[in-house]
Amino acid sequence: MAHFGRNSEYIRMEGKKPLDGRLQIQGSKNAALPILAACVLIPGKCVLRGCPCITDIECMCSLLKSTGAGVEHSGSQIAVDTCSVREYRLPEKYVSAMRSSVVLMGAVLGRLGEVHVNYPGGCVIGERPIDMHLYGLEKLGAQIWIDGNHIHAYADELRGAVIDLPFPSVGATQNIILAAATARGTTVIKNAAKEPEIIELCKFLNMAGARIDYAGTQLKAGRIVIQGVELSKLRGIEYEIISDRIVAGTYLFAALAAGGKITLENVPIRQLGSVCDTIRGMGAEIVIGEAENEMTINACDRDRITNIPYIETDVYPDFPTDLQSPLLVAACMAKGKLTVREKIFSSRFRIVEELRRMGAEIAIEGDTAIVTGGRELEGRTVIARELRGGAALVVAGLCASGITTVADSGFIRRGYQDIAGDFTKLGARISYGE
Ligand code: UD1
Repeated sequence: MAHFGRNSEYIRMEGKKPLDGRLQIQGSKNAALPILAACVLIPGKCVLRGCPCITDIECMCSLLKSTGAGVEHSGSQIAVDTCSVREYRLPEKYVSAMRSSVVLMGAVLGRLGEVHVNYPGGCVIGERPIDMHLYGLEKLGAQIWIDGNHIHAYADELRGAVIDLPFPSVGATQNIILAAATARGTTVIKNAAKEPEIIELCKFLNMAGARIDYAGTQLKAGRIVIQGVELSKLRGIEYEIISDRIVAGTYLFAALAAGGKITLENVPIRQLGSVCDTIRGMGAEIVIGEAENEMTINACDRDRITNIPYIETDVYPDFPTDLQSPLLVAACMAKGKLTVREKIFSSRFRIVEELRRMGAEIAIEGDTAIVTGGRELEGRTVIARELRGGAALVVAGLCASGITTVADSGFIRRGYQDIAGDFTKLGARISYGE
């Protein structure tokens, strides 16, 4: 079993070498996790292709097994047979390790009518309450009892409802979709999240027999309408997981920061609009090959790489919070100043301290970071404290003079299947150590 927390693994690299080469982007973590959870709802066998080989996926597979599901994992293919799912108590060890485990609530409740779970864990990037998840499940008729750190939810019958979310939370929208898919009657989620991973979950469930209207005018209005179907109407299917927009974005920012020219294959091009706008705005050239899902970034001419004045993270299609840390690193390497406002998670500037130790000039004022670029970064030992921040420290190491060691790099394996291998393919001098 893989580790999910602190660890002795590190990544070491020698920086200041422009990137060069081609790379295939892995499958999407944030699409695969809720779809794996959705398998619990479907009495039958689902086969998912294109899953990333990362520890969060291993953790979800362990959670599925704990419910009684049969899980066969071979390379990027995962087969989940849920015919004998009976256990509604989810083990704390795995739930605490990963925030995304929370979406199993809706799926297990829909399948078994009951779920016992502790408050989920995840990255230390700020307060991550689940009040909207619980509100949605209660509106669908679930009785919820909270006992210390434990949540017990049950329902003799889930019933469709109109649920107006105060914020378009990705996780709460997913949980409500899962619980409503087999509820009696119609559920309308207002102010629903519109992230591509929500669309993928709806597509997957509809292929399996659910009746969810999420497209066109509904999507524009931020509404998702779910006509509940009987559990017995759902059937196992085969499904291909989309590629990972955040991993693709991380590597684009790596090229912008370290310089060079790289081509990424299997890129979800349409999901990267705000990211490409930002990168182009900072002076790099991006060429898109729609037919081959390829994207080439050219950041060789360093004189052209200049900060834009301001950017803020927000819900899709705006700039994703998950790419805020790699953006900070790229801003350190560009000329001029960038002001970044983090609107989604309160503590997402934890890497700033580490970047300052490397020589970066970054001031923090509440939810805003002001980066003065054009400073030289120097290789140091820095500590990864969470997934995306950890990946961004690797990017910083590629830009720094001398040797950088990113300690506790096991966090990065939660979302990147082989970050050192990928950067090696792009010509970097980088390796894992233990
Ligand atoms: C979030 C990101 C998602 C990203 C994922 C992993 C957004 C909108 N969501 O999804 O893109 O892939 O992290 O890093 O960018 N909140 C509440 N109560 C709740 C649920 C959420 O107050 O019950 C608040 C959170 O504290 C946060 C915001 O809503 O400020 C966004 O949360 P949400 O979209 O639910 O987070 P995730 O589903 O984890």
